[in-house]
Amino acid sequence: MQKKLWPAVALAATVSAAAHAEIPNLSLDFPPTPSTLNVFASAAAHRRAETLVNKMTLDEKLQLIHSEYQMSAVPGGGGGYIQGVPRLGIPDINMVDSATGSGSTVQPSTTFPATIAVAASWDRRLSSDFGKQIAIQLRQQGFAMGLGGGTNLAREPRGGRLFEYLGEDPVLAGEMLAWRTDGTQSQKVIATIKHYMGNEQEHNRNGGNSQIDERTMRELYLLPFEIAARRAQPGSVMCSYNRVNGTYACENSHILNDVLKNDWQFQGQVQSDWGAAQSTAPAINAGLDEEEDVGPTVYLTPDAVKQAIANGSVSTARLNDMVERKLYVMIRTGVMDDPPKGGATIDFAAANAFTQSVAEQSMVLLKNANNQLPLAGGSLSRIAVIGGHADAAVLTGGGSGNTRDPVTGSFAGCGGLTFGTETGCSWWTNPWLKLNVPIVSAIQALAPQAKVTFAGNSDQQSPFRAYTQQEISQAATLAANSDVAVVVVAQPAGEDIGDLTSLSLANPSNQDALVEAVAQANPHTIVVVESGNPVLMPWKDSVSAIVEAWYPGEAGGKAIADVLFGKVNPSGKLPVTFPVRDQDTPTWGTNGAFAADPVYSEKLDMGYRWYDSQNITPMFEFGYGLSYTHFAYSGLSVARLPGGLIDVSFNVRNDGRVAGAEVPQVYLGVPYQGEPPRRLVGWDKVGLNPGESRRVHVMVTPRMQSVWDTTNNRWQYVPGSRVYVGASSRDIRLQGGN
Ligand code: NOJ
Repeated sequence: MQKKLWPAVALAATVSAAAHAEIPNLSLDFPPTPSTLNVFASAAAHRRAETLVNKMTLDEKLQLIHSEYQMSAVPGGGGGYIQGVPRLGIPDINMVDSATGSGSTVQPSTTFPATIAVAASWDRRLSSDFGKQIAIQLRQQGFAMGLGGGTNLAREPRGGRLFEYLGEDPVLAGEMLAWRTDGTQSQKVIATIKHYMGNEQEHNRNGGNSQIDERTMRELYLLPFEIAARRAQPGSVMCSYNRVNGTYACENSHILNDVLKNDWQFQGQVQSDWGAAQSTAPAINAGLDEEEDVGPTVYLTPDAVKQAIANGSVSTARLNDMVERKLYVMIRTGVMDDPPKGGATIDFAAANAFTQSVAEQSMVLLKNANNQLPLAGGSLSRIAVIGGHADAAVLTGGGSGNTRDPVTGSFAGCGGLTFGTETGCSWWTNPWLKLNVPIVSAIQALAPQAKVTFAGNSDQQSPFRAYTQQEISQAATLAANSDVAVVVVAQPAGEDIGDLTSLSLANPSNQDALVEAVAQANPHTIVVVESGNPVLMPWKDSVSAIVEAWYPGEAGGKAIADVLFGKVNPSGKLPVTFPVRDQDTPTWGTNGAFAADPVYSEKLDMGYRWYDSQNITPMFEFGYGLSYTHFAYSGLSVARLPGGLIDVSFNVRNDGRVAGAEVPQVYLGVPYQGEPPRRLVGWDKVGLNPGESRRVHVMVTPRMQSVWDTTNNRWQYVPGSRVYVGASSRDIRLQGGN
């Protein structure tokens, strides 16, 4: 269990700040994560990069700012390649997608749980370890740069790429991304954070114009990037395909130059998403440092940039800045002096064990009527496991956020499954992952004397087709003759698969009907959900327990069984709201049609803020999650310290009978027009034995109490916020302090 890492750093800063500061001290807002603490190394890296640039020819400089699309040709099967300059000791850079593990197309890699699962753990240390473990494999495969830091907010709950992001709250997403970035770069792998910005849907993703007012951008959609960029200094920020307020993100001087490089003092490089650059001089002058091209139209080729310099539309000083940024990042992360060589032996067993612990710590127990869970392995004689290919596989997310090649061998479509008739069956569009230990086997291992029987569409059948009436009846009959029924439902999504039309599991797969029929047949029905998005649960009241397992990765079968049988006490909390109906979500409008050019008209009322401000009761709110034990909160103290910090402290006690971990959350009601009733400003995750109590401190920085002042274009500190401490965004246990 993690300790209070951030508060500890913030407190240390307070001691020196306290003596001087009567006014909010904004330098307390973004304390560096451990691997970014060495500022002197940064200054030295800048000097060294500058010296190198001065020694380079024009052609050598141009070589460093443009990568060809060589997905399959890149050594190691990566997504992009920048050739180094051996005479100056500058190594090649191979980059690769890495949201849920290495995206190498030719090398075996571990499939980790989806990124949204990491967010659901609310565990900063786990997020750091996640970045670290993936980076270890990237280096072993020869990659110096991982593109896995996705953090667009879940404004659109149907968004196709939510599984590779970190939920709907900017502080949760930003913090988790900062720690992941720190873990990645601790292994001498350059971390990219993406997709900057306003890229919250897949619909019309190459041309959509996201229209977002400045205050909403600063307080919501830019904030996760700001937190990660300032705290952990990722080497690279990837600008996105869409336009932002009329201008393409990769040539948008406001978000790149004004905000990222000027306001946040970002020292790294801006790279385009693949094919997202739209011009040469305008993009370069707006802040784009490197193009990743997919052809046929490319803009930062050596010839194009040479011409721009010759005709004066791009200055040599700016070209030098682009190159220096790249070299600086390589030096500071250690890639320059110790480039990855590849070809190393990967410890797949250790990585598999790690993926299991991530899956276990991220699962969210949504319902547990009459303590249906945990199951007592010894007392069950007949267990039905139904649906979701639980006899063979788990679902993963599609597109570049997926891992291409599981350890089990070549990814010959559907993770090695034999869905013979399915067309286009691949990691990209149909991402079932065959497991060594699927859910059925893992359950059998924990209930050795029980007869475990599977029903539902099996390995031999098309993965996403609808259950037939006959299959549903067979499943119900099996459930009726069993002590307990575990139904697995799955919601596929991913890049290019597109946004979901609905959060419902009814169409086209008929999964709601399956759950209803099983629940009617057996009062002890447990639903396990594999999804990267919220799902609708019209059957919520008919079943006795529900576990959200996300896309749980290659050890997902064992992790799910461990949670069901209580070997692991669930401690995840939802990073996204689960609504009752599609119509309740902030982006549904009148008919759920996606806007080609989305207007973020709900402004700050996004995610749980929408439900709170509109008085809509969700199915399960942001921050919600049950445990096999219970936690009591008491003794709130709100201490306002010099410098504008608030030290919120309180007791959390495990007053149940088993050990468990709780995520106490601190929200603020900021007394300012347009602010939502509550916004998350901090949290901790504490592991407690039965009867054990802990005093938790959450430090609230001045920025967390501020709003974006559109008149003066700056942050404005707002005194007098009310403090709420809760077990979720709605389960408020303590409040006070204004
Ligand atoms: C496009 C995706 O949007 C981006 O996330 C990914 O890193 C690149 N393709 C490279 O695969």
